[in-house]
Amino acid sequence: MCGIVAFTGTSSTVPVLLNGLRRLEYRGYDSAGLALQTRDGSLEILKRAGKVAELEQALEEAEDARPAENSGAQPADQSTSQPARCGRHTQGVTRNTIAEATTGIGHTRWATHGVPSEDNAHPQLDCSGSIAVVHNGIIENYAALRAELLERGHRFISQTDTEVVAHLIEEEYAAAHGDLVLAVRTTVARLSGSFALAVCHADEPGMLVVTRCDSPLVVGRTKNGAIAASDTPALIEYTREVYYLDDRDLAVLRENGSLQFFDPAGSAIFPTPVTIEWTLEDAERGGYPDFMLKEIHEQPRVIRDTIAGRYNADTRRISFDDVALSPRELKQIERVIIVACGTSYHAGLIGRDLMETWARVPVETAVASEFRYRNPLVTPATLVIAISQSGETADTLEAVKLARLAGAHVLAITNVVGSRITMEANTVLYIKAHLEIAVAATKSFLAQVALLTLFALYLSQERGQLESNVVSEIYAAMEQLPRQIDGILEDTGSIISCASECGDAQTALFIGRGVGATICYEGALKLKEISYVHAEAFSAGEIKHGPIALIDPEGLTDPRAQTPVVAMVCKSVTYDKMLSNIEEVLARGAKVIAVATAGDTRIAELTPHVISIPEVPECLSPLVASVPLQLFARHIALLHGANVDQPRNLAKSVTVE
Ligand code: F6R
Repeated sequence: MCGIVAFTGTSSTVPVLLNGLRRLEYRGYDSAGLALQTRDGSLEILKRAGKVAELEQALEEAEDARPAENSGAQPADQSTSQPARCGRHTQGVTRNTIAEATTGIGHTRWATHGVPSEDNAHPQLDCSGSIAVVHNGIIENYAALRAELLERGHRFISQTDTEVVAHLIEEEYAAAHGDLVLAVRTTVARLSGSFALAVCHADEPGMLVVTRCDSPLVVGRTKNGAIAASDTPALIEYTREVYYLDDRDLAVLRENGSLQFFDPAGSAIFPTPVTIEWTLEDAERGGYPDFMLKEIHEQPRVIRDTIAGRYNADTRRISFDDVALSPRELKQIERVIIVACGTSYHAGLIGRDLMETWARVPVETAVASEFRYRNPLVTPATLVIAISQSGETADTLEAVKLARLAGAHVLAITNVVGSRITMEANTVLYIKAHLEIAVAATKSFLAQVALLTLFALYLSQERGQLESNVVSEIYAAMEQLPRQIDGILEDTGSIISCASECGDAQTALFIGRGVGATICYEGALKLKEISYVHAEAFSAGEIKHGPIALIDPEGLTDPRAQTPVVAMVCKSVTYDKMLSNIEEVLARGAKVIAVATAGDTRIAELTPHVISIPEVPECLSPLVASVPLQLFARHIALLHGANVDQPRNLAKSVTVE
C-alpha cells in the first residue's frame, strides 16, 4: 500500500527519497510525489500519477531544463497543478533544488479517497503551501474535519483525507506561534483512524516531524542525517539500527542527524533501537529476473532457518521457549482459533489439520476479515493464533484486538520485527523468511507452514498426545525438506512444460483432498493473483456436486478447448478416490496436470502431464507440493506478459480493512 520516505541531512535528499520510493514499490501504489525544502524558504513539489519511474523522468526533465527557465519562482513542472494554485511558498521542482535540497519527504500512494491523479497524490499542502504532508492510512473523521476547515475558509484541492491534516497543522502552527512539533501533536490528537505521517514546513529548514497510529513507521540515524520510512527496505541502505514509534508518539528529525522522541502528552521519551537482521542483499534481485523467483529459490534456506534450534536431540522434544504459556496453561487450552487472510489463511488451514490430528484439540481457522463481525465464541481458555507475514494486515489486527479483549492468549506468527502484530500479541513467533518483496507470498507461506507444523508437534507433546519417537521422526523428515526442495528447483522441466500446456487457458480448476485441497487453494490463489487467469480450487469430492459443470465438453473432441484441472495426488488414504475424481474430469474433457509423488505409475497411466514431487510424510506434503505450483503460476503469468512481482490492484501489506 502507500509508502513514506523522509530524509534530512547534509547530502542531497533527492537520491535518498527516490531510492527509498523504489524500494517501497513492491508494496503496490498508483502515484508518487516529493516535497523538497529549498534554501530560500519554500517547498518545491513534484507529483505524478503512475510509477516512480515517471517521477524520475520528470526530475530528469527538470534537471535538463535550461537554468534560465528554471530560475526563481518559475516552475519547471508546469503540469504540477497544486503548487500553482497554492500560495507563495510552493513551486515546481527546479534544477537547483534537485542538487541542493537536503531535506524532503516522498510518497507512493495507493488510492483510497479519490482517483489516482496528481492532485490526489501526496504530498498534500496547506493553503499557503508552506506545509507538506505525506500520509499512509485512512483518517476516518476527515469528512467532519474538512467541513469545519471549509467553513473557516480553507481551500481544498484534492479529494483526499490527507489534505485535512495539512490544513489542521496550518491552524495549529499559527496557534502554537510557530512550534511545528506542538502543531503536529495537537493535530494528531484530533485525528481518528490509522496514519503514518511525515511533515515538513518551508519555514523550518532541516527539520522533519513524523508520527504514526496503527500504521507502520520506522526512524533511524544515518551517517549524514536522519531518515524515516514506512518500511525498512527504504532505509536499510543507510542504517540497520531503527526506532519503532508507539501509537501517536512523535519523532523529530534534524539535518545534523539528531533524533528526538515525544509521547502524545509531549514528554520526551527514549526508545531503544532495534537492529534489522536482514541485509541489503535481501532487498536486491541478486541476479534473478524477478523477486518472486528469487524468493522461491530461497525456500530451502528459509525452511532450514525456521526449524533450526526447535528440536533437542537429547530429550527428543520440540522446544518453544518463546511461547509465553506454561505447560499447565498449554494443557488447559480448550480451543484454538487461527485467524489470518489470503495465503496466511491457507497456512492456517494446514495448521488446523495438524493441531487437531496431533494435539486432539478443536481448532478452527477463520478468515480474519469476517471474524469480528460474526460475534465469535472466544474465552480465556481459547488460544488465538494470528498469522500475518507483514504483521500489519488490518483485518488480522482487528481480530487480534477482539481476542485480547475476550481474554484469550494471542500467539502471533509473523515475519516482521517491530510490526503492529508484535505489539498486540502475548506471544510472538518469527518465521525466518527475511524480507519478502514480491507481492505474492511464497517463502513466507512455506515458513509459516513449517513453523505451524513444529508448533502442532509441540502442543501435542505438551498435552501428552504424541510419543517422542513420532516427534523425532517427523522432525527428521523436516530436516530433509531443504534438500528435497532444492531437487524440485533444480529440475523444473516438467513444471514449465505443464504451464506452457495451459498458457492459453482462460480458467483453471485445482482439485485435491485433505491437505491436498488446501495446497490447491494456495496454488489457485497464486495463479489468479499473478497471471489474472481465473482459477478456483475445490475439494475433489465436491466437484461432482457442482463445479464439474465448468469443464468444457468441447475438450473431448478439441484438445485446445480442454479445461486445465490441476490435481494434487499425494500418497494418502484418499489416493484411490482422488484417482477416481481424475477419471471423472478426464471423462468430461479436462486436461489434467497431476502433481504426484515421484515414481507413481498409476497416475502416469491417466495423464501425460505429471509434475513429480519427492516422497514425504503426508503431513509435510504442503512443504514440497506448493513449490511447483508457485513456479507453475509464475510461468503462466510470464507467458501472459504480467509483472509477477507487482500484480495489478494488489498491495504487499493491506493496512486498511
Ligand atoms: C497472496 C498474499 C496475500 C497475503 C494476505 C495476508 O500471495 O500475499 O493473500 O497473504 O494479504 O497478508 P499478511 O500475511 O501480511 O497478513
